[in-house]
Amino acid sequence: MVGRICGTGSCVPQRTMDNNDMARIVDTSDEWIRERTGVVRRHIIEEETTVSMAVQAAERAIENSGIPAEEIDLILFATSSSEVIMPCAACEVQRAVGAVNAAGFDLNAACTGFVFAFNTAQAYIAAGMCRTALVIGAESMSNMVDWTDRSTCVLFGDGAGAVVIRAEENGLCRTAAHSDGKKGKALTCLSRHRKGWDKTQDDKESYIQMDGQDVFKFAVRKVPEIIEELLEAEGIGLEEIDHFILHQANRRIVEAAAKRLKADISKFPMDMDEYGNTSAASIPILLDEMNRKGLLQRGQKIIMAGFGAGLSWGASLIEW
Ligand code: UT7
Repeated sequence: MVGRICGTGSCVPQRTMDNNDMARIVDTSDEWIRERTGVVRRHIIEEETTVSMAVQAAERAIENSGIPAEEIDLILFATSSSEVIMPCAACEVQRAVGAVNAAGFDLNAACTGFVFAFNTAQAYIAAGMCRTALVIGAESMSNMVDWTDRSTCVLFGDGAGAVVIRAEENGLCRTAAHSDGKKGKALTCLSRHRKGWDKTQDDKESYIQMDGQDVFKFAVRKVPEIIEELLEAEGIGLEEIDHFILHQANRRIVEAAAKRLKADISKFPMDMDEYGNTSAASIPILLDEMNRKGLLQRGQKIIMAGFGAGLSWGASLIEW
């Protein structure tokens, strides 16, 4: 059994902040942010929360799938920025969408979270443990960044994306996942619930800290590697892939990965100009945009690839 995506949905906050808005907060410029990252604006929560965006994305994905919510038997929620720890965000979504027969849990693998959650759902389906899964990536990165640190706050945005997948006899799904904890220091954010945290102090460690160049080099090396790993395992050539849906961290990373693979850049859709880096939400948001624009045709082969803190990287080769 293989899970085939049969519905997608997404939700981003109403409020946008463009690069000029950022330049009023920190010492940066529209030119620097565009050239180094490809980001032009990002959507930032006001009233919204990680869960409220996830609920809307999930409702849209369920509606798009045409499958009643009661038929969902698994909800996986990838996030590292949920405002709620207990109950888990997946249970909040379950209640809101009426997926009364589903079991749900959260999964944190930072920006790789959606792909790891998607692969986990596929494993449940392959093992016969579930038939219909709702997989969500949702983040409020604006709660995680230090708004005085120009090296990180300009990069991220908030949003949610979701897919419904359903078991089918025939289909394609090949997965790969890796972590390298030895390189964990390159991208960190310590919990504000940790013992001894002094709330009266300006504690930089409880905001995202990143060695941007280290993460950049890692991504440019590992993304092509994992794509080649999937192609080799499936025994197909690069030219057979119709779309490469990469985590939207930086336009230059996507371009460099395409170049290394010697692949046609037009097969690498990008939307970080509009949303910035939405971490675990970036891949399902992009997938939903493409689906709603009618750019995905049944039978097309797609590779999704995520990377980020851990350091971790993962990919899935699927057929639409
Ligand atoms: O999703 C999780 C995974 N994360 C990523 O994939 C992020 C990977 N890394 C990157 O995307 C890039 O490394 C960044 C966009 C974060 C940074 O780009 P960079 O080309 O690596 O710049 P840099 O860190 O080498 O900084 C270059 C210069 C520095 O100034 P000096 O030392 O050359 O004078 C920085 O202080 O740019 C400066 N700088 C800025 N200037 C204006 C750093 N941030 C900013 C800013 N505006 N926002």
